[in-house]
Amino acid sequence: MTSQTYLSELFSLDGRVAVVTGGSSGIGRAIAGALARAGASVVVVARGEKELAATVDELSADGCRAAWVSADLRTRDGVRAAAEKAAEVFGEPDILVNSAGVNLRPPMGELGEEVWDTTMAVNLDAPYLLGQRFGPGMAARGFGRILHITSQQAHRAFVQSGAYGVSKGALESLARSQAEAWSPHGVTCNTLVPGFVMTPLNARLSSDPEKVAALAARTLVGRNGLAEDFAGAVVFLASRASAYVTGQAIFVDGGFSVH
Ligand SMILES: NC(=O)c1ccc[n+]([C@@H]2O[C@H](COP(=O)([O-])OP(=O)(O)OC[C@H]3O[C@@H](n4cnc5c(N)ncnc54)[C@H](OP(=O)(O)O)[C@@H]3O)[C@@H](O)[C@H]2O)c1
Repeated sequence: MTSQTYLSELFSLDGRVAVVTGGSSGIGRAIAGALARAGASVVVVARGEKELAATVDELSADGCRAAWVSADLRTRDGVRAAAEKAAEVFGEPDILVNSAGVNLRPPMGELGEEVWDTTMAVNLDAPYLLGQRFGPGMAARGFGRILHITSQQAHRAFVQSGAYGVSKGALESLARSQAEAWSPHGVTCNTLVPGFVMTPLNARLSSDPEKVAALAARTLVGRNGLAEDFAGAVVFLASRASAYVTGQAIFVDGGFSVH
């Protein structure tokens, strides 16, 4: 057996179908690219059509199979419509990655219901609804991979965690509930936990060089994260190789969380 055959048996996503919410930007875009380059047919879901089309164009130019669905995940009807449209493109997904997220961080005393509701809708309700739509089918087919992107704030409060931290803590619990339900049927459910990654999500913080340097100093590796740092972890967690890894929070944070 060649090493290429061995690696392919473990990690190839050939023939798999993936849906990646938030796949048009930042971490989600890098994840969509990694899954597509590892062989999956990928549907990226977000609102902005320009960014969606640019993502798909880049992947298509690389010889990948990719498509996009524009949808607003703030409403339950929007999520349901997105799920149906996404499943129409390449068929029911084997892999679901929930990377779409909002990061609204007013001080706790000023946190109003609108910010709370939007945060819960996008960061928690959408992953729940998409899991309900796709998880049972994955279980019936005997293979599935559900991945959520959470946050350090799921584990500790800092920089005004507010509703954001609550949504991400609950998302980790959702992964465990999903893992409990569907792991016996070949569907693993895990979360990836970033440290600080410079993306449009945290543009305000990214524009402060002192804060950026201080965050880098808090890692063990000595730098902040790059979206590309998630490629290896996501291919592993989407592949056959990770069949016995479920209900876990996997930190991809350069050691940010361990000291
Ligand atoms: N960057 C970090 O340091 C960091 C740290 C911890 C956790 N995370 C988490 O990682 C995930 C990805 O973050 P990122 O940094 O890659 O952010 P990003 O670059 O801002 O990307 C966010 C994505 O979500 C989509 N999105 C936002 N609201 C949406 C809505 N209502 N409906 C549909 N799509 C929506 C955006 O597209 P449209 O705006 O076009 O809809 C975009 O594709 C998030 O869940 C975030 O909480 C990030």
